[in-house]
Amino acid sequence: MKVTVGVSGGIAAYKAAEVVRALQRQALEVRVVMTASAQQFIQPLTFAALTGHKVITSLWPQHHDRNSYDSDMESSIEHIAEAQWADALVVAPATANILAKFAHGLSDDFLSTMYLATAAPVLVAPAMNTNMWEHPATQANLETLRRRGVRVIEPASGPLACGMVGPGRMAEPELIATAVLNALGRSHDMAGETILLTAGGTREALDPVRFLGNRSSGKMGYAIAEAAQSRGAKVILISGPSALYPPPHVELVRVTTADEMRNAVLARMAEATLVIKAAAVADYRPVNVADQKMKRTGPLTLELVPTEDILAEAVRNRRPGQLIVGFAAETENGVENGRAKLLRKGVDAIVINDVSKPEIGFDSDANAATFLTLTKAIDLPEMPKRKLADRILDEVVALRRPQSLLVELGATQVPSREEKQAAVRRQIIIE
Ligand code: PMT
Repeated sequence: MKVTVGVSGGIAAYKAAEVVRALQRQALEVRVVMTASAQQFIQPLTFAALTGHKVITSLWPQHHDRNSYDSDMESSIEHIAEAQWADALVVAPATANILAKFAHGLSDDFLSTMYLATAAPVLVAPAMNTNMWEHPATQANLETLRRRGVRVIEPASGPLACGMVGPGRMAEPELIATAVLNALGRSHDMAGETILLTAGGTREALDPVRFLGNRSSGKMGYAIAEAAQSRGAKVILISGPSALYPPPHVELVRVTTADEMRNAVLARMAEATLVIKAAAVADYRPVNVADQKMKRTGPLTLELVPTEDILAEAVRNRRPGQLIVGFAAETENGVENGRAKLLRKGVDAIVINDVSKPEIGFDSDANAATFLTLTKAIDLPEMPKRKLADRILDEVVALRRPQSLLVELGATQVPSREEKQAAVRRQIIIE
């Protein structure tokens, strides 16, 4: 979905960059419109770099070319195009001046003109000096806007740039992003879920400086954490070593080895309503770990033992109603191998990714997957990992609806796990 961020001229304009980032973290496409006074506080270039889109700074063409009638025409109707493009308009910060313009229908700059032209939900995040905020004129303007359906994201109280202490500080960027999501109707469909999620790779030490590891960056798992959190879930993220910043409001548990990941998962299993294992866990660890750095003395043979299968153990410890979703990184026969893994591990679903393609899978920003359950295989084509995370969660949420299973299996009552597994085995034999 697409959001236009309007930036008007107050000291909080620098925080608009954080608002843009918070919206992007929710997989929203963002463009920015700035008033002339906003440009006194922050450069349009900042927003162009963050969004990858031209920033609109004026109602009029910037480089007037008398011979270029077409480009003039294009520019003068740009506010209509922008108004139609946006699924929501959020003004952050909204000064007393822009609120007054909106309330009175003035349209002498791009932002106020776009406000009149858009049919999309409009949100304002006021930021100003306390006296200006409390002034009857500002409050009357806000009242007018509220009556017309504009959502006002109330400012916080605290020390202001002008030295006063009181209401007038712009709401936190995360709060603004949440208000935009609500306005867009992106529901909190995972409210009440507690997700135990694993991400990243694990490392098995050979000696104090070397380890056996894998190419997982954590990007896929962190994207799921962020998506689930923004859909209202509580997220416990158990992560192997990763260079990524943890998403806001997610509880991060850092681990290094497969054994530490296992202990962390088992310790928190009872809290979870949903377990998702996106981590790439070591399948083997060295029997012996050298105390000192090993010297290069010729060929080396390592003795390895299998690690515990955390996913299978999680399934054995499953509590009623708990959904368990695994991931499978495959380089060939993805769906076939994934289906065998689904049965062997006894999970509710498995997300199969083809890691043989260098541009997707490990450490890439995009991924493609097949979401496989006992009854269906849903192709999720290549897309950014953050978007794929939402698509995967859409399918996970759908698993909570038993009707879908009834229809697919042609059953008259909810089939047992054994019936479902038998149905899948039949399908494998037929294939
Ligand atoms: O982190 P990125 O760079 O974004 O890359 C994402 C990813 C490719 C790592 C991710 O999308 C992915 O596919 N993760 C699973 C990789 C994997 O280990 O697959 P597997 O087929 O080896 O394991 C199957 C499942 O068993 C996985 O859910 C895994 O977490 C789990 N497992 C595996 C071994 C083990 N000892 N314990 C486990 O729980």
